[in-house]
Amino acid sequence: MKDISRRKVLKEIGLISLGMTMLNKGALSGNKGESFSIKDINRTNNSDIDFDRPVTAIVLGAGERGNVYAGYAVKNPNELNIVGVAEPIPYRINKFSKQHQIPKEKQFVTWEHVFEQEKFADAVIISTPDKLHYGAAMKALEMGYDLLLEKPIAQSWKECNDILQQQKKFNNIVAVCHVLRYAPYFLKMKEVIDSGKIGEVINVQHLEPVSFDHIAHSYVRGPWKNEKESTPMLLAKSCHDIDIIKWILNKKCERVSSFGSLKWFKPQNAPKGCTKRCTDGCAVEAACPYSAIKIYARDKGWHLRYLDVKERSFEHIVEKLKTSPYGLCVYHAGNDVVDHQVVNMQFEEDITVGFTMAFAGYAGRRTRVMGSMGDIVGDMTNLHVFNYNTKKRETWNTDDIDIDDGAFADHGHGGGDIRLARDFVRAVKLQDPKQLTSTIDASMESHLIGYMAEKSRKEGGKMYTINMKA
Ligand SMILES: NC(=O)c1ccc[n+]([C@@H]2O[C@H](COP(=O)([O-])OP(=O)(O)OC[C@H]3O[C@@H](n4cnc5c(N)ncnc54)[C@H](O)[C@@H]3O)[C@@H](O)[C@H]2O)c1
Repeated sequence: MKDISRRKVLKEIGLISLGMTMLNKGALSGNKGESFSIKDINRTNNSDIDFDRPVTAIVLGAGERGNVYAGYAVKNPNELNIVGVAEPIPYRINKFSKQHQIPKEKQFVTWEHVFEQEKFADAVIISTPDKLHYGAAMKALEMGYDLLLEKPIAQSWKECNDILQQQKKFNNIVAVCHVLRYAPYFLKMKEVIDSGKIGEVINVQHLEPVSFDHIAHSYVRGPWKNEKESTPMLLAKSCHDIDIIKWILNKKCERVSSFGSLKWFKPQNAPKGCTKRCTDGCAVEAACPYSAIKIYARDKGWHLRYLDVKERSFEHIVEKLKTSPYGLCVYHAGNDVVDHQVVNMQFEEDITVGFTMAFAGYAGRRTRVMGSMGDIVGDMTNLHVFNYNTKKRETWNTDDIDIDDGAFADHGHGGGDIRLARDFVRAVKLQDPKQLTSTIDASMESHLIGYMAEKSRKEGGKMYTINMKA
């Protein structure tokens, strides 16, 4: 009887095959983690809570991420209501305000204006560019707002610490948008490790392949191309990776070292005949995989959203590229962040970890966890768990998981975005930070690892110890 009900629960959450073997996991030694549950893996709202009124929030930065989180209000208006917005780009603020019916007096050009008014919402969603997180977070916390704070927390370790201290002083709920912690795939990976199924973790290999068009769009031409304007690549992109490794292991990182550089996207690699802009009559445009005309005007992929084009015709997009930073040649874009990097980490209990970020023809994080009794191989869709004793391999995949739809469709981080929004709303509603796995406290160590690894890279791979008290 007991087994049947467990089976029913596992079936409901789509984990039947792996769950069945976990019932027989035997006496393998475990990697006991923090208290953790995947019971809610397939629930993408808070239908179990009675909302007498929705949680109210103000969005700072109505760009990509601001629209993603505000999308939760569109899907669940009884739970979340967006009541204010700050955004300097007229096209974006108008579109956003219309969608969320925000009155004129609650539409602001810049985040500072929001805080000139008395507190008028429960929470603030900070989805401004990286360099504007700090000021907005400090002020929002002081005024008593709860915070959904995009990663990276801030541009330096000191600023991250200031925000943490501010949170402690005013006792607000702060969720850092480490969305992978909420993705069913990584929840499952953590569950397998915590169960002891692969014994003790010996080593982790984690790869973040950034697709070649994505690196060109975001880290060569786009908002994260300069360290001073945003953060180093390791924080801007791969703080998710460092964080998820730290989270699945639930161990302290002791030492770190890193190598990496900007190897390809620089003037000396420009082919003969290329021009400063792809639209300037570049002689090699047709053969260039990074051509802005190809990426935005011909292929019209997800990147096009960043261009704010009113119509999607080839001619209109090419016209826009003539003045937009997204029309710059990738070899002449003035970028300075790395295009490949490796980080070596030594965790407590002698666990070694190697992380690589590089560009490739595919995307989707690849992770291998090598344990004493088994191993895990995953690609964000399939999770294979191999048992050294039985020599059997079980596979779990994301097919049964309700990933996303609506505003979450193209940028859902495997279902992590919507589940983070769900848990943030829940935490604010219940005034309970325990509803979150990525509180600011829990997110600090991975930021420190990132900052120290970047320091190491700049110093030729020097090894640094990770000391949270320093
Ligand atoms: N969690 C994730 O997986 C994830 C993914 C992508 C980006 N991010 C982070 O989210 C943040 C936003 O990234 P994005 O992709 O949405 O970028 P975006 O450029 O689409 O959005 C940022 C918005 O902020 C606006 N803005 C600029 N100055 C402002 C000001 N003074 N006041 C108010 N708004 C202002 C911009 O006009 C823009 O619309 C960044 O910190 C980024 O690193 C996180």
